[in-house]
Amino acid sequence: MRHTSETPAVTASNESERTRRTAANGGDPTLDFERVPYDDYVHASTLHRLQRTLSDDPGEMSFLMISQVMELYFGLVHFELGVAQERLRADDVWESLLPLRRAALHLEGLNAGWQTLRWMTPGDFNRFRDLLGEGSGFQSAMYRKLEFRLGLKTASLIRPFRNDPAVHGDLENALAAPSLWDDVIRVLARHGHDVPGSVLSRDLAEEHTPDPAVESAWVRIYDDPGPGNHLRMLGEALTEVAEQFGDWRYRHLQAVQRSMGARVGTGGSSGLAWLRRSMERVVFPELFSARTVMN
Ligand code: HEM
Repeated sequence: MRHTSETPAVTASNESERTRRTAANGGDPTLDFERVPYDDYVHASTLHRLQRTLSDDPGEMSFLMISQVMELYFGLVHFELGVAQERLRADDVWESLLPLRRAALHLEGLNAGWQTLRWMTPGDFNRFRDLLGEGSGFQSAMYRKLEFRLGLKTASLIRPFRNDPAVHGDLENALAAPSLWDDVIRVLARHGHDVPGSVLSRDLAEEHTPDPAVESAWVRIYDDPGPGNHLRMLGEALTEVAEQFGDWRYRHLQAVQRSMGARVGTGGSSGLAWLRRSMERVVFPELFSARTVMN
């Protein structure tokens, strides 16, 4: 993940150098730099140049910036889930818990973003909506990668990117790669749970079909509340991620309802009705269905 070509090297420091500098500054921050190190690292000046609104309506800025903040969060959650997958592939269930915890917390941060769009009535939205043309969050490649990683694999949803070979190729790879749920199921199998070969060798680019054996495995796992039951902790960490992601979807639906009712979407869909159908696709299905029969 380290940046290379575009990032001027940030000069590393250490504790004794920091102590010496603070003493020389008399306790105040350093004020003289060749280049400001914060910007070399955070690229704040680049980020703050990306708010190109289409209208003069002051309300559009929060719509655009919240969309950008949410995009960054999609990327961050996608990253964390990838780290968790690496740990699970190495069969280190314990080590997968921390990135999953971070992912759940980032999702909370992401969801808080909806609070700041709650002022938007249809009148407020309509002041700049036409200018969005056919643009829609539905066309977010990072959101689609996040969905794929969560196991929501819908191949047709990469079509919007077919004229951009780099993005399209990236999404094709993401579609064909094991989802987090696939990696979790493989862990269950390696830990002695009876998982049918057909589940382990399924076409990964297709949506996973919930399987009774995987559901039974979770029932057995939750039967043991002991402190050493890392698989149960994994189940709970994944539940948290799924619930927080569900919250994003639900709050998005509420925002849509609040700001445009049941109008059709800019992305060409029926709007609310399409979103409701999209939300029916369940993340980590057996982890929830198993709860019906758990003790
Ligand atoms: C209140 C303002 C918003 C409205 C009215 C709205 C409306 C819609 C509608 C109608 C759709 C369905 C596709 C279409 O026809 O356009 C959609 C999808 C989507 N929107 Fe929004 N949206 C809003 C804010 C946002 C924001 C801030 C984001 C963050 C990036 C976002 C991300 C998405 C995503 C990822 C989808 C695809 C969902 C899926 O595949 O299930 N939306 N939006």
